[in-house]
Amino acid sequence: MSTEAPLKIAVTGAAGQICYSLLFRIASGSLLGDRPIELRLLEITPALKALEGVVMELDDCAFGNLVNIEIGDDPRKVFDGVHAAMLVGAMPRKAGMERGDLLSANGAIFTAQGKALNDVAADDVKVLVTGNPANTNALIAMKNAPDIPASQFNALTRLDHNRAKSQLAAKLGVPVTEVSHMTIWGNHSATQYPDLFNAKVGGKNAAELVGDEAWIENDFIPTVAKRGAAIIAARGLSSAASAANATVEHMRDWILGTPEGDWVSMAVPSDGSYGVPEGLISSFPCTVKDGKYEIVQGLELGEFSRAKIDASVAELVDERNAVTELGLI
Ligand code: NAD
Ligand code: LMR
Repeated sequence: MSTEAPLKIAVTGAAGQICYSLLFRIASGSLLGDRPIELRLLEITPALKALEGVVMELDDCAFGNLVNIEIGDDPRKVFDGVHAAMLVGAMPRKAGMERGDLLSANGAIFTAQGKALNDVAADDVKVLVTGNPANTNALIAMKNAPDIPASQFNALTRLDHNRAKSQLAAKLGVPVTEVSHMTIWGNHSATQYPDLFNAKVGGKNAAELVGDEAWIENDFIPTVAKRGAAIIAARGLSSAASAANATVEHMRDWILGTPEGDWVSMAVPSDGSYGVPEGLISSFPCTVKDGKYEIVQGLELGEFSRAKIDASVAELVDERNAVTELGLI
């Protein structure tokens, strides 16, 4: 085990289905290798009993790097001094619902948690929102935490990024490791834009290798963008293990850095790059060094890509207007 001080990691929705995978991945070292960690687990009061059962199972794994676990229903206690916060806890959508339907149901969770993080988290806390609608929930948390720099709030589009890589690799019959420079632009919703024009396969342009714009438009993009709904239809429940995997990968890369020569998709507060209005939490191609992300600059966007990005960003503007009207930001 490393001799570094334990990193305090908060996870919300800890008795839910994503966390039933996520907590064990974090504790087994998928996040930070052998660095010691302390888990701070937040749930609503009625779910604390179930969470005690999850903690019993974590104990029964005898993970060497997991030095302490605390649970509770008070974000001000659970978030005290945390360096990383994974905000997973929120209601998932059911069959037939769009993510926008969750705005009012879940938005209020993130005002309280943003305020608590603002008051008690470590100054360098990294906050990653997985709970849907993830981009706008991250915006709510960020706006309710005025003392924490905006750049410390991200939302998850890594699952979409991984879905896009996997669909492209299957189409071209190559291992997924050949796919690089994938980008998800915009919202984690059906309007998201997975971009094959800047992606590469074996170092070559992905769109050119596919050579079939109709497939990109009518097959690839909707398959990736509606994958969440397809999983709900098949499983009767929203994606969980793959969402946990993506949450770990996003936070790991944010803390430890992205691989040399590639980028990942992260929903981060826009600085105006690529014409996305400043402050919206929108997905971009990002690299990370020394714990700080940067939006990759200078990518070419043709007319098709521009229109797709604009449509997803317009949805983010609508969501921001809706939560403003609800008094959440
Ligand atoms: P789940 O219903 O199994 O678990 C959610 C948990 O959150 C429950 O245990 C609930 O008690 C808890 N919770 C509710 N309010 C809370 C609060 N105020 N504080 C702490 N905990 C609270 O749901 P799940 O399948 O684990 O999904 C969680 C969220 O993640 C959903 O919103 C889902 O839509 C979203 N999700 C996002 C992605 C993504 O890629 N961004 C992917 C899959 C799922
Ligand atoms: C997903 O993408 O799998 C999740 O966001 C669940 C959903 O509601 O689609």
